[in-house]
Amino acid sequence: MGRSTWKYQVFFLFSLILHSQLPFPSSLSSSLSSMPPCSALLHFSKSFSLDQRVSASNTYPKTASWREDKHCCSWDGVECDKNKSHVVGLDLTSSWLMGHIHSNGTLFFLPNLRRLNLADNHFRGSLIPSEFGNFKSLTYLNLSFSVFSGQIPFEISQLSSLVSLDLSKNGLLIKAPVWKRVIGNLTQLRELILDRTNMSSIRTNSLMNLSSSLTTLSLRYCDLRGKLENNILCLPSIQTLDLSENWLSIEAPVWKSVIGNLTQLRELLLGGTNMSSIRPNSLTNLSSSLTTLSLHYCDLRGKLEDNILCLPSIQTLDLSDYSFNGLLPSSLFNLPNLSTLDLGYNQLVGPLPSHVSGLNLIVLSLSSNFLNGTLPSWLFSMPSLETLYLDRNQFFGEIGEFKYNSLKNLDLGYNKLHGSIPRSVSRLVNLTILSLPSNNLSIMLGSKMFSKFKNLETLDLSNNSVSINNNAAYALPNLQYLNLAYSNISEFPRWLGDVGNNSLYYVDLRNNLLQGQFPTLNSSNLQFIFFSNNNLTGEIPSLICDAIHLGVLDLSHNNLSGMIPKCLVNSTSLSVLDLRMNSLHGTIPTTFVIRNNFRTINLNGNQLEGPLPPSLANCRDLEILDLGNNKINGVFPYWLGSLYKLQVLVIRSNRFQGRIGNPKTKFPFPNLRIIDISNNQFNGPLPIKYFKYLKAMKIVEESEVASKYMGENYYQDSLNIMMKGHYIEMERVLTILTSIDFSNNSFRGEMPKIIGRLKSLKGLNFSYNNLIGYIPSSIGNLTNLEWLDLSFNKLGHIPSGNQFNTFNNNSYTENLGLCGFPLSRTCDNNEAKQPPPPTLQQDENLEHENGFGWQAVSIGYASGTIFGMFMGYLMFKIGKPKCLVRMVKLEQHIMLRRLKKNAHKRGGRR
Ligand SMILES: *[C@@H]1O[C@H](CO)[C@@H](O)[C@H](O)[C@H]1NC(C)=O
Ligand SMILES: *[C@@H]1O[C@H](CO)[C@@H](O)[C@H](O)[C@H]1NC(C)=O
Ligand SMILES: *[C@@H]1O[C@H](CO)[C@@H](O)[C@H](O)[C@H]1NC(C)=O
Ligand SMILES: *[C@@H]1O[C@H](CO)[C@@H](O)[C@H](O)[C@H]1NC(C)=O
Ligand SMILES: *[C@@H]1O[C@H](CO)[C@@H](O)[C@H](O)[C@H]1NC(C)=O
Ligand SMILES: *[C@@H]1O[C@H](CO)[C@@H](O)[C@H](O)[C@H]1NC(C)=O
Ligand SMILES: *[C@@H]1O[C@H](CO)[C@@H](O)[C@H](O)[C@H]1NC(C)=O
Ligand SMILES: *[C@@H]1O[C@H](CO)[C@@H](O)[C@H](O)[C@H]1NC(C)=O
Repeated sequence: MGRSTWKYQVFFLFSLILHSQLPFPSSLSSSLSSMPPCSALLHFSKSFSLDQRVSASNTYPKTASWREDKHCCSWDGVECDKNKSHVVGLDLTSSWLMGHIHSNGTLFFLPNLRRLNLADNHFRGSLIPSEFGNFKSLTYLNLSFSVFSGQIPFEISQLSSLVSLDLSKNGLLIKAPVWKRVIGNLTQLRELILDRTNMSSIRTNSLMNLSSSLTTLSLRYCDLRGKLENNILCLPSIQTLDLSENWLSIEAPVWKSVIGNLTQLRELLLGGTNMSSIRPNSLTNLSSSLTTLSLHYCDLRGKLEDNILCLPSIQTLDLSDYSFNGLLPSSLFNLPNLSTLDLGYNQLVGPLPSHVSGLNLIVLSLSSNFLNGTLPSWLFSMPSLETLYLDRNQFFGEIGEFKYNSLKNLDLGYNKLHGSIPRSVSRLVNLTILSLPSNNLSIMLGSKMFSKFKNLETLDLSNNSVSINNNAAYALPNLQYLNLAYSNISEFPRWLGDVGNNSLYYVDLRNNLLQGQFPTLNSSNLQFIFFSNNNLTGEIPSLICDAIHLGVLDLSHNNLSGMIPKCLVNSTSLSVLDLRMNSLHGTIPTTFVIRNNFRTINLNGNQLEGPLPPSLANCRDLEILDLGNNKINGVFPYWLGSLYKLQVLVIRSNRFQGRIGNPKTKFPFPNLRIIDISNNQFNGPLPIKYFKYLKAMKIVEESEVASKYMGENYYQDSLNIMMKGHYIEMERVLTILTSIDFSNNSFRGEMPKIIGRLKSLKGLNFSYNNLIGYIPSSIGNLTNLEWLDLSFNKLGHIPSGNQFNTFNNNSYTENLGLCGFPLSRTCDNNEAKQPPPPTLQQDENLEHENGFGWQAVSIGYASGTIFGMFMGYLMFKIGKPKCLVRMVKLEQHIMLRRLKKNAHKRGGRR
């Protein structure tokens, strides 16, 4: 804003000084209620500032050209009646208006308005004044996308001449009584558009009473709920019907009447409606005049037979999202008027047709199917093609040369393509998304190819073979997202310091062969930095402090030295700080600020020393704290007990010492599930009081805790865990893994009975301490236990039954005086009644009782921009035995497709 606003205000003052003729008043003192229309208009426009950002691009402020020396009937956007006595139309669409609309505004002194359009401006959350009800002659009213808020006033229902009403995209609320009056009184309505209006209190059967003259009804994202009944859609004139993205369901009879009765339909959009009871072949009878059909995410399961869609007029066809299987119907590629075809996220198989005739698509998306074969040449010869998404299929061969330069979005990721990027790509001046991850491409970055990409926002070449040529100088001024992970680059793309200036927010160079100093990055906008698994050396530069919005910093598995920059610790934006496996030294900065955003702090495997800063207690959102394998000293960090969300605490292999003592907070560590304090110098008795309160470890029902991985789409937490005797790096941590590791300390005394209450424990390790006495039989209640290590203590008799029978000798070795089954040594004095050795039969019973098995598996995960191989801990409900010591390790690749359904690319979709 600024310039034009200022200009305008000066003009207005000037106009007041000039003596103006009618229809302007000579001064402001004249009564507002009798203000002539031109003055009212000028007054109205003066109440806004002009701000280019609030309207669509390529628009201009109409009011800026309003000049008092011309009659207002000639002003841009103003329409008068024949004898210029009344203003009857006002169209200020996309006019950069920024400001409030008040009920005393002079807009309401234009009672003869018939058409009013204020769409695409910014009214700062103004309520819609009830005075709108005074425009008795209004036939057309459009207030969409202009930042109004609150309820739709019932006075709107007094506009009984309205033919078209659009209040969409403001996030307004309409309540049942107002809705009832609207549909009861606005009998002339032909267009009703209320997208993104909260209609959650409206019953779907009220749609039945809508004006039968409606030609357009659009209620997208309106929070409508329920089943559409048979007689609801009695709209004989309807041409455009959009009920997408609600909680509606349609069953076969209604669908039949939609198809049979709504014969005028041109556009039918029902995305997100549950249509699972409808078979795809019922699409056969759709009106042949349809130009738009969108049934994405409608759950129409079944085969999409060839030739079921007889839609000669269709232009936009969206059948994406988990519905259809079978061969890709090649008939779809012969629809003569088709411009947008989206069949993404189905289970279609087979190749693309090798020839098509007359196809001229603008958008083609076949993402995430099981399509294979090579990419036919027609894909590269469509003169208007702007979007081509073929990612997540099994295409092979090379990418063809583009014949035309219209392409804006290209995603061919997650296929089996090889070769290089075709030369013609360098001519695609409007390219915004170039995404080719996870293929077998050989890509030379830095050749002249990229010099014309002024609009490029997304560049994802990860998991290919990329080489960087740092001699070529070029800029990617609009780059926002850069992913070159797993691409064998050994040089840092030096131009990265210049690209994107302030637009780059995501940079992923994980798992490459980068050497040397931490690169210079000039983007204060950076939110995600992934440089893990390289060989970066030197210090973390303080330049990183310029990235004031940084949310994820993953520099793990490098050779970084020096200290942790203070700014990383006193950040309020950082959520994930992963500096694990480097050579950082010094103390952890003490300045964790109040109201910070940390969720994960992982500093494992460095040479950090000194005590833990008490200000860590400011990390109220912290879920994972891993400080293992450092030289940190001091007492047990009891002050972390107040962190309500803390789930994982690992301080293994440090120099902590002393007794753990009693908790200082009332309910310490309520959500802790993994605690590893092994290999320190803790002594004294085991901390019974803490065991008493570890609430999360007492919850057994798997259904009570969401079994999901820790982390978000963009960052999955990984951890080093001592599990079943192996130090395993788990790349993803399931939220139901529960373990206690107190091994290799000097804990004395007996094992407390109370341990038996931590029923969700999967692992318990008290080995290498000085525990004495009996193993409490309550441990037999830990029916989820999968690994138990009490070796190298001074424990006595092993109780029998339950879990105990399932652990072998190694769980108990080197305990002086330990005896009883399953050890080979029996106890004297009838201390233990030795149970019969388990037979196969008994084993089976145990297995069936439990009904499912837990297995450590290795899974592969691919989701949009994140890709990796890792160990995971995954639940299988397979009705297989629960083998407590006989753990099964499986190699398995699982695509968790829906997790991030390419949110980056598809933005607003669900
Ligand atoms: C109109 O109402 C607003 C808010 O209620 C107030 O700030 C403003 O002074 C009023 N303007 C006139 C001309 O009365
Ligand atoms: C319907 O419109 C008429 C004419 O504008 C108006 O007088 C009446 O109050 C309206 N009824 C409702 C229920 O709003
Ligand atoms: C809609 O069509 C069905 C048959 O397809 C018919 O039985 C029904 O009467 C029609 N309903 C209306 C309201 O026209
Ligand atoms: C392509 O997929 C189909 C169906 O899954 C399969 O029968 C065919 O063998 C595949 N072709 C190639 C070349 O992989
Ligand atoms: C690139 O986009 C601009 C603006 O939309 C358009 O005018 C131009 O024709 C496009 N260039 C090509 C090669 O399609
Ligand atoms: C990492 O870099 C250091 C020093 O630059 C070098 O000595 C070492 O061999 C490198 N390690 C790997 C795995 O490349
Ligand atoms: C962090 O510390 C730096 C320097 O000590 C200071 O300038 C900055 O304001 C601090 N940030 C916060 C969020 O406290
Ligand atoms: C095991 O749990 C049951 C039920 O919670 C309880 O009654 C029993 O006393 C426990 N057994 C031991 C040995 O603690």
